[in-house]
Amino acid sequence: MSPLAISRRLKLLGTYDFQLYFPFMPQLTSSSGTRFLLTTFSWARPQVHGKLLKSRRTFPSPSVPFAARLLRCPFRVRSGGEGPGERRTSVASTSVVSFLLLFTFLLSPLASSANTQRYRLTWRADPATTMTIGFEQYHGSSARVVYGTEDHGRDANAYPLSANPARFVNHAGMRNVFVRLKGLTPATVYYFLVVDSDGTSRRMSFETPHDSPDRPLSIIAGGDSRNNRETAMAANRLVSKLKPHFVMFGGDMTNGDTPEEWQQWLDDWQATISSDGRLTPIVAARGNHERSNESIYEIFDVPNPKVYYSLDFAGGLLRTYTLNSLFPAGGDQADWLEQDLASCKTMWKFAQYHHSMRPHTVSKPERDELIYHWGTKFYRYGMNLVVESDVHTVKQTWPIRPSQEPGSSQGFIRDDLRGTVYVGEGCWGAPLRANNDNKPWTRASGRFNQFKWIWVDINQVQVRTVMIDRSSYVVQENNLETRFKSPPGMYYWDAANTGDVLRILRRTEVANSMARNPPLAAQSTPSIQAASAPAVLVRDGNGAVRVSYSMPAGGRPEILIVGAGNRLLWRGQLPVRGPGPYSDKVDLPELPRGTKMELVVKAGGKVVAKYELR
Ligand SMILES: [Fe+2]
Repeated sequence: MSPLAISRRLKLLGTYDFQLYFPFMPQLTSSSGTRFLLTTFSWARPQVHGKLLKSRRTFPSPSVPFAARLLRCPFRVRSGGEGPGERRTSVASTSVVSFLLLFTFLLSPLASSANTQRYRLTWRADPATTMTIGFEQYHGSSARVVYGTEDHGRDANAYPLSANPARFVNHAGMRNVFVRLKGLTPATVYYFLVVDSDGTSRRMSFETPHDSPDRPLSIIAGGDSRNNRETAMAANRLVSKLKPHFVMFGGDMTNGDTPEEWQQWLDDWQATISSDGRLTPIVAARGNHERSNESIYEIFDVPNPKVYYSLDFAGGLLRTYTLNSLFPAGGDQADWLEQDLASCKTMWKFAQYHHSMRPHTVSKPERDELIYHWGTKFYRYGMNLVVESDVHTVKQTWPIRPSQEPGSSQGFIRDDLRGTVYVGEGCWGAPLRANNDNKPWTRASGRFNQFKWIWVDINQVQVRTVMIDRSSYVVQENNLETRFKSPPGMYYWDAANTGDVLRILRRTEVANSMARNPPLAAQSTPSIQAASAPAVLVRDGNGAVRVSYSMPAGGRPEILIVGAGNRLLWRGQLPVRGPGPYSDKVDLPELPRGTKMELVVKAGGKVVAKYELR
């Protein structure tokens, strides 16, 4: 077997946990006289563990090819077992170990693995009942998928269902194979293997989204991984932890659209696979670094070769629109968008595309044509949320609509009742740009690696901006029951005017909210945990709190701190605000701790929010 074939076999195992046993050679002796026993060897993404005698050493390996790591891994073993004198074994002994490991790999049952890798999930039709499984087949023949709702491990014969590929396409130096599954049951976990003439893949799984509008959805949305693989891998690992129903990816996966970069990108994408083998579907858009539509169509088998398409989720809860800003925005694409939106009956509508209409950095061109062809339709048909990319900075807007009327700026004006919220702009690893072009309708902007974690339910949408770098140490994986909880170690953007959760209420709720005038914090959804703003405000170390409230009309809100016996302890004012929801950070003076106090927000002589202050 050629070194290349060996390397490929090893790369195939990139996310596989396994054990190797050495019945024929249970004990090795290094040239230094150190004896050690290789009892198990496991590769648990992204680390290699070697157990030597009773000690154990871990070799972090985020990006070095496995074979290369084996050949140069500096085994350090303890002389005399647990003694303090640690020394490095000779190169010769390391090479012997490396050779034995490689040799044993080829003799092990894993040598019968299928010749497939770079797995990905996409949709071409109803996500609740279909799934496209894509992969590269680099050798062998007769690839197919066996699957079922029970986990039979790698026993291919035990799976009751089988499907053959619907499409083969050579692209980016890979033979891409797509198996399109149909007739699936919603809200069901399917276990599957990719089987070919030489063996079977590892056991993987996917989940069909539910089809119930009264149950929430979890979505990750971002874009622009480009050339910073370390950040992209950190984001990919967070996908594996959070287990969203799917990922919306706004293009610019690679920098140069070369075969090598795409192969690396798909290798890195395997980090989105959870430890239990679960893959997360990707809904892909095209960016300007994809030189043609084929880059997306041939790798993700999206429903339309022109890379604009829509998908329905959760039985009428959500429809997503993926648009192609590298294709004429008007003409056929605009006609299709108008017709689709006009017939759309879902409760929520989201859109994604690559180029930001109004970039929040000065070095990027304005995209007036996107406002004209798309932004106007978003407003006309009630688009709720738009995820943009390309700029490599961070922004979120107030609800806005296209306008040239007095008070508008750069073609938009704030409209809390019927406007669309725009978020973005990239940052899944691409070089960051300055957020130096805010607008009057900008809610907040920033500059850091991020993606959006979006929860959708029947009453509201919650958008959290995940700070990738700070959250890269998250260890705990959500399960399907805890997917609406934040694992320990997650960091969210505490954005101006927002806090860490940007909420979008149903439009009827917005109207009612503004009529009834309750604080925004009261609009939480019980089914989603950690969602509601607290009824209790706890001062941080600097004595500051973040206060959410809703203005019924324009005016200057007032903050009152009231102690026991309704004694006024402090009074302050916030800047003048227009109608709508707000979330402001308020620096409080030194106040006694441990005594019961209330924080009251008043506007126009009325109480618009009230909290217990601690
Ligand atoms: Fe771009």
